[in-house]
Amino acid sequence: MRTFTLPHTDIVVPDVVLGLMRIVEKSDEEVRALVSAALDAGIDFMDHADIYGPPYHGCERRFAEALRLTPSERDRLTLQTKCGIRQPGPYFDFSYEHIVSSVEGSLEALGTDRIDILLLHRPDALVEPEEVARAFDDLEAAGKVRHFGVSNHTPGQMDLLRKHVRQPLVANQIQLSITHAPTIAGPMAMNMAALDQSIARDTGVIDYCRLHDITLQAWSPFQAGFFTGPFLGSPEYPELNAVIDRLAAQYDVPAEAIAVAWLTRHPARMQVVLGTTTPARVAAAAQGSDITLTRAEWYALFRAAGYLVP
Ligand SMILES: NC(=O)c1ccc[n+]([C@@H]2O[C@H](COP(=O)([O-])OP(=O)(O)OC[C@H]3O[C@@H](n4cnc5c(N)ncnc54)[C@H](OP(=O)(O)O)[C@@H]3O)[C@@H](O)[C@H]2O)c1
Repeated sequence: MRTFTLPHTDIVVPDVVLGLMRIVEKSDEEVRALVSAALDAGIDFMDHADIYGPPYHGCERRFAEALRLTPSERDRLTLQTKCGIRQPGPYFDFSYEHIVSSVEGSLEALGTDRIDILLLHRPDALVEPEEVARAFDDLEAAGKVRHFGVSNHTPGQMDLLRKHVRQPLVANQIQLSITHAPTIAGPMAMNMAALDQSIARDTGVIDYCRLHDITLQAWSPFQAGFFTGPFLGSPEYPELNAVIDRLAAQYDVPAEAIAVAWLTRHPARMQVVLGTTTPARVAAAAQGSDITLTRAEWYALFRAAGYLVP
């Protein structure tokens, strides 16, 4: 497992991490087996959100109740969580009161005294960055949150926050997989008339994050679209699966590893956020971290997913 020091922090992190969005109905044994497979593979970074459940804070609580971490076991983990999506609704809420109360709820549910990284989950159209700044300052001063970041944010939205927030934004978690890569495919095809891929949906987020040392985290690395099921083995992606299977055989790894390697090959040095609840798939996916695809292989996967290399 490749690791690196997360820019703006002193935390050494793996480039594949475990997302816990789907564990609310899992038993203690299942959660333990999942986390244990992750730790065995070198994944000591856990991604949560207050909204993962239901109920609110449900997955955070399931994680803590199943693991019952000792203080030293807790210290060995990086715990990241998110706030800002409210139910019923949904609607988005970056008010001081909501950010602070969500963190209090996460601390209680996770059974910990600090969140290592807090992300603002989805951009709140009504954001008042001064309020976010005040919430971050108070949470940092109280020792409740060590580092801050965002998720699904554009460069403009990050600029607005950075104008007011004192702490560096350390991460931006966005949807990214071989089959959902408008942030990569769009800029590659810039200015191509009559080409859908060229439509600017990405707002330059990858270059912006690289310029400002904001680590990109890729969520839904196996989903074909927005929670539409995995592309691995899907009859809708015969060409892509043929290339994945060929490379998997060549590198002697499972197909999941190739899907991960496509993301970790990107020089932005992203973190891949796995969502599987199957221990064997965690072990399979983690192997992708140690593979460095060639440029030709990386582009072959990209083309096979249906993107144009103009
Ligand atoms: N920031 C955001 O807005 C945002 C949004 C969504 C998710 N996230 C984060 O990203 C994480 C990952 O999201 P995700 O769960 O949608 O991602 P994913 O890893 O692409 O998908 C995992 C799902 O695909 C299933 N699956 C079927 N075949 C698979 C295979 N061969 N390999 C891997 N998975 C397979 C898994 O089933 P099994 O469990 O049965 O293996 C699971 O239901 C979440 O846990 C969460 O932490 C963040």
